[in-house]
Amino acid sequence: MLPKLVTAVPGPRSLELAERLGEYESHNVTYTASDWPIFWERASGTNVWDADGNRYLDLTSAFGVAGLGHGAVSLTEVMRDQSEKLIHAMGDVHPTELKVEVCRLLSELSYERWGLGRGKTVLSNSGSEAVETALKTALIATGRPGVICFENGYHGLGYGALLGSGFDKFRVPFDSQLAEVRVELGYPCDEVDLARLRVDLDGLDAAHFGALLVEPIQGRGGKVVPAGGFLQVLRDWCDEHGVVLIFDEIYSGFNRTGRLFACEWDGVYPDLICLGKALSGGYPISACVGRSEVMDKWPVSTGEALHTSTYLGNPVGCAMAVAALGIHRESSLAADVLKQGEELMAMLSDVDSPLVYEVRGRGLMIGMELRHVDSSPAGDVAGRVLSRMLAEGVIMLADGRDGNILAFTPPFYFKLGEMAYVVDCLRKVLLDEVGGGVTAS
Ligand SMILES: Cc1ncc(COP(=O)(O)O)c(C=O)c1O
Repeated sequence: MLPKLVTAVPGPRSLELAERLGEYESHNVTYTASDWPIFWERASGTNVWDADGNRYLDLTSAFGVAGLGHGAVSLTEVMRDQSEKLIHAMGDVHPTELKVEVCRLLSELSYERWGLGRGKTVLSNSGSEAVETALKTALIATGRPGVICFENGYHGLGYGALLGSGFDKFRVPFDSQLAEVRVELGYPCDEVDLARLRVDLDGLDAAHFGALLVEPIQGRGGKVVPAGGFLQVLRDWCDEHGVVLIFDEIYSGFNRTGRLFACEWDGVYPDLICLGKALSGGYPISACVGRSEVMDKWPVSTGEALHTSTYLGNPVGCAMAVAALGIHRESSLAADVLKQGEELMAMLSDVDSPLVYEVRGRGLMIGMELRHVDSSPAGDVAGRVLSRMLAEGVIMLADGRDGNILAFTPPFYFKLGEMAYVVDCLRKVLLDEVGGGVTAS
């Protein structure tokens, strides 16, 4: 179903709620401007309805969570059933059978499927926490504090995760509280970058570093697909120097790129993998899964877990994760995403505008980079495009350090007609931006 607007966007109810939120929520959380935000009321499949009754197409899967669609029946049913039985237990003290099942499934779908034996899991609530679990694991396994990370890498905003952040704007304000243990390398886009990376890696004092943290495809960094062979270079270097290789697949995992995990494109596997977002399709649950030889470096619990949290292994989240994993393992899903991604990529590549510098990505993790004619990043244009698209009934976000990469990460069951609508709107909005168009309607 294509969007049908009832009122101007944002409508009067959203505007009123934004004003009220501003009175009670801390600054610097929700961005409020005259054309932003809308307040969500309900969602189904690819559609979202706001508090004013407007319907939108969601091109974000709500931060990459709703790959299986908003309110997927199989997930909402288990959520309802589980919430009637037990909504909270004692994750690391008296847990549930569901926690056992999530950990088992994660092992089966990752390390066992990759032929690397059993995988062991620590569950948590947010992506950032899964990354922090991985960084702690690497320190425990190696005794070395150093963390190697990548320019424009995004791993969440908790202090541990910030260590790996390649976004200065998020990390620098807190640098004085972050230990000086990080080194940031360039994320290679081509052979030349990759050759430089090899040199940079060889120049490091490897004995200082316990962890190398990387996204197999950068998400918030701008949907950047790295140079071929990159992951293998990292795998070889980590093997040679005894460094724990961590793949952050919080965004790229669970079929988003047309493979169950993005690293499967290269057939290169990490020591630890961080997962979240689509793991449950809508409940805050995340996981750090690792090769058992690495995870078993954690001491056996003698009654006080070294690393846990109140909501670890929450039964509702686990029930949803079990259901979601059951769908994600279906062999046809990855192929469907791949096909949809190819169709969307072809349509976007067909958009003829001097502002479009590049369309790139894998599966349904696509970015359209906008630049001005002088080649400078067109974050200003992207910002206006987001607002205009919202007014056309399309929810979008922009990525990259300069916010100039339009992101296309819709739910997997996006229809061809919906794609055509989005691309048509985008074409008109971009035409207006270069001054030659008519107002999109
Ligand atoms: C690759 C990656 N890692 C980690 C995170 C952080 O996840 P969360 O926001 O759930 O802490 C994100 C969030 O966008 C992400 O894209």
